[in-house]
Amino acid sequence: MMTQHHDLGDSDRNLALEMVRVTEAAAMAAARRMGLGDKEAADQAAVDAMRGTLDGIAMDGTVVIGEGEKDEAPMLYNGERIGDGSPPGVDIAVDPVEGTTLTAKGLPNALAVIALAERGSMFDPGPCMYMDKLAVGPLAAEVVDFEAPIDENLRRVAKAKGGRVGDVTVSVLDRPRHEQLVADIREAGARIVFLIDGDVAGAIMAARPQTGVDISVGTGGTPEGVITACAMKCLGGVLYGRLSPRDDTERHQALEGGYDLDRVLSQDDLVRGDRAIFAATGITDGALLRGVRFSGRGATTQSLSMRSSSGTVRTLDAEHTFHKFNTIARFAALDELDHDTVAEQG
Ligand code: FBP
Repeated sequence: MMTQHHDLGDSDRNLALEMVRVTEAAAMAAARRMGLGDKEAADQAAVDAMRGTLDGIAMDGTVVIGEGEKDEAPMLYNGERIGDGSPPGVDIAVDPVEGTTLTAKGLPNALAVIALAERGSMFDPGPCMYMDKLAVGPLAAEVVDFEAPIDENLRRVAKAKGGRVGDVTVSVLDRPRHEQLVADIREAGARIVFLIDGDVAGAIMAARPQTGVDISVGTGGTPEGVITACAMKCLGGVLYGRLSPRDDTERHQALEGGYDLDRVLSQDDLVRGDRAIFAATGITDGALLRGVRFSGRGATTQSLSMRSSSGTVRTLDAEHTFHKFNTIARFAALDELDHDTVAEQG
């Protein structure tokens, strides 16, 4: 099906910064539930915060990667229209809590994430829940080959780094399905950072300095792949992926839907055009971003905001003051956990 592209024009400058307010609110709302062992509650709080701060933004957005179908998801469902309806027309991918278990257990690297791109430009995962992925940053972007064996790619990354394979660190989701992959990485001599969850953070780490990660590999969510593609387009890194059906039913559905299961998809297939916007705020502390810290007066957050058209990557530290009752703070302060305390202060 042909889809029409709408240029984001200069409006993406403003949108990139507006989106940080959205992920800050989601991160603060989720961070209130850190360690409570209730991942649904953390996710719902972040969804509500994200939805509340998205209202009124000057755009004509459609959620294409959201929280599920309309009848299952009260907010941010696939197909939901967002913004005040004025141009530009954009596709929106949200992951209000990327790492719900990480948040529920207070473990590192949980993020609140949103990505925008031109209308009609984002890949539709359809029935394909998982894809095999490989991501590296700008340093090794030109040298990796998705179809080459992992040891070959590790040698290439090592060379691009100017070191040996023993100097390369790989991030991999800690899953039984990665047993062989992990054995091969160990055999090649590289070091591994296991991710309990969160391969969006894992991939971005590979493209950011000082995170200690050089390459991210393994099978993870297809929606997360689309979101990661937006980030990689901004960072000058690459993400390659191939759809990986879980079983014969999913394989059948994918083939029926016209998906090519052999095709290697790049970040430019997953998100077409050069007008991607990506924003993320740390929920828990991690190598990529510091998590939310609460004080008596409010909270501090750390976020990333980036645009592919300029390649600018901003790290934004923010101090939020709750008694001012601005829109963002509302979602982190006025919830059932501390409603009474905040109401007294107000
Ligand atoms: P949540 O949806 O619980 O936040 O988990 C996110 C995630 O770890 C992604 O980062 C990853 O792509 C996917 O789940 C992996 O799926 P699975 O946990 O089924 O292996």
